[in-house]
Amino acid sequence: PVLVVDFGAQYAQLIARRVREASVYSEIVPHTITAAEVAAKNPIGIVLSGGPSSVYEDGAPKLDEGILQLGVPTLGICYGFQVMAKQLGGEVAHTGLREYGATAATVTDASGNALLEGQPVDQTVWMSHGDSVSRAPEGFEVLASTASTPVAAFANDEKRFYGVQWHPEVKHSEFGQRIIENFLHRAAGIPADWNSGNVIAEQVERIRAQVGSARVISALSGGVDSAVSTALVQQAVGDQLTAVFVDHGLLRKGEREQVQQDYVAATGVRLITVDVADIFLDALAGVTDPEEKRKIIGREFIRAFEQAERDLVAEAAADGQPIKFLVQGTLYPDVVESGGGAGTANIKSHHNVGGLPEDLQFELVEPLRTLFKDEVRAIGRELGLPETIVGRQPFPGPGLGIRIVGEVTRERLELLREADAIAREELTNAGLDHEIWQCPVVLLADVRSVGVQGDGRTYGHPIVLRPVSSEDAMTADWTRLPYDVLAKISNRITNEVPEVNRVVLDVTSKPPGTIEWE
Ligand code: XMP
Repeated sequence: PVLVVDFGAQYAQLIARRVREASVYSEIVPHTITAAEVAAKNPIGIVLSGGPSSVYEDGAPKLDEGILQLGVPTLGICYGFQVMAKQLGGEVAHTGLREYGATAATVTDASGNALLEGQPVDQTVWMSHGDSVSRAPEGFEVLASTASTPVAAFANDEKRFYGVQWHPEVKHSEFGQRIIENFLHRAAGIPADWNSGNVIAEQVERIRAQVGSARVISALSGGVDSAVSTALVQQAVGDQLTAVFVDHGLLRKGEREQVQQDYVAATGVRLITVDVADIFLDALAGVTDPEEKRKIIGREFIRAFEQAERDLVAEAAADGQPIKFLVQGTLYPDVVESGGGAGTANIKSHHNVGGLPEDLQFELVEPLRTLFKDEVRAIGRELGLPETIVGRQPFPGPGLGIRIVGEVTRERLELLREADAIAREELTNAGLDHEIWQCPVVLLADVRSVGVQGDGRTYGHPIVLRPVSSEDAMTADWTRLPYDVLAKISNRITNEVPEVNRVVLDVTSKPPGTIEWE
């Protein structure tokens, strides 16, 4: 792999993704990793990430000096660039000149070094630093500068060491991805051969080795991650797998059918649907507090799943083939953010598949543990899963239950389902599915406003559209949807959905707002 050494900011994940976008497999490792541990991973390249610290601070994250002696091609970015400069005998200075945001850089390289080759002399790069490299280490050539940073990029071709002060992984750096690709393919000579086909073959092998002849169950939520992880296991050990789909009555329009028909047709998986909508709605009656709703939904989900599990375990035991494994759609960001993959802080604990019981007596099969969401989608497509499932936006485990502000009732769910289906349809028709990360549609059930529809006064509910753009749902911005698309959605919802007489747009970023309303 290419190892991305995490110096503690949010950048390491982004770098790991950009490396993979260049068709090279990458892994994130903490900056506390030792040279021996790095060597044991047999890396073909190393990228040192940016970080929030100053190299001068007490306790500033360090890099085992032996790592730069391993002879592995290395690219230092921002803080990583400064660490490299310092360790290799250059100088880093407190200039007091901070650079933050879009910055004009000048490529001064005259030798046609692989890193910046073919790039315009003047370009915009994304900066975020206080200290600067004031002198490059011996044997290094300076490749670029900015007004306040004389050494903004450097290279030592012989050692295959490279560094940039700016953030090439950020889209605001004009030629950022090109720099990453140049480092990987040209400077380090790494082929672009990591793709979904390889991942599938590798995972199928691993699943077979892990599972042997035992039986496996999987909880299908209808979301992308559980759909793809289940399909991988199905491909690996087909007739040993049973998928369980809990219909809690809080799903969107068409979701149950998509799973029961399209998904089964595409994968051939043995599927059991547990129909517990009535139980959920009874349990939610009279409840308006968001946390209480979440708790109830989580608890009932576990009950429903455990019932199905008991039935299946009994059946399997009668066959003499016990169930030993449970499939989970855990993704790489979950692993990294839970502290499992890097030195980054534990930002929030993730509950997959809507919060499965903690005391399940199964071993986990997690074929997506090394993958990012977009890679999971690519694999789903390669496996032939329907676009209605693979292209699906993230949808919370508690479903529409946390998109009705107020008590959840059958009637309100029906209204919201219609409004949501209209919004999704129009966004798809306008070709905007890839512009947005997700667009929660929220019913403000306890709010009423006066309207006029037909010839009469109405006193109805507002629907909120919450389109957001995001890379990972940790932060988000509201998406500037075209007015005509918004107009069409608004028109259709107020015309077609009874009791709704107003459509409003949520123009809040995250933070301060979360993506969901509850
Ligand atoms: P928030 O609202 O916290 O949402 O900004 C971040 C992302 O997580 C989704 N979300 C959930 N997903 N179970 C889930 O599986 C949950 O309880 C849950 N709550 C929020 C949300 O849709 C967004 O993508």
